[in-house]
Amino acid sequence: GRRSSSVIDEATVARLLRAATAARLRAYAPYSGFSVGAALLGASGRVFVGANVENSSYGLALCAERSALVHAIVRGERRFRAVAVIADSDGPCTPCGACRHVLSEFGGDVAVICANVNGQLRIRELRELLPDRNDTLRRGASS
Ligand code: THU
Repeated sequence: GRRSSSVIDEATVARLLRAATAARLRAYAPYSGFSVGAALLGASGRVFVGANVENSSYGLALCAERSALVHAIVRGERRFRAVAVIADSDGPCTPCGACRHVLSEFGGDVAVICANVNGQLRIRELRELLPDRNDTLRRGASS
């Protein structure tokens, strides 16, 4: 697969954080009170947003990152450059293990922009957040 480092420019980071911040306002998080917004940048340049959607059966909560991914897939986007995640967390909000795995389905060369509403920021590559992802189990999807 492609191994280029997805160096992400400041304007793109700002664009994704704006989109994620707006999406966060649509979160449905009455159980945890923890609203999360995500914005996923596709290879086409389009941005797909997501927010967490909770449920009275607590374990069924859908994270913002997977919400954004589903948006993108349904619109035909399957290659991704970056994803921004923002919440009112102590430090930059990082994707949970399940979201790392689900995002990795479509390749590990994705800049993960982790942020909080206080302006703290940390950028990592998805393949760093989920090393040794199970490429060998996948069929069809290329990275
Ligand atoms: N959550 C996300 O949406 N993304 C993250 O990166 C962290 C966790 C959601 C799931 C749940 O609705 C709430 O935050 C508390 O964990």
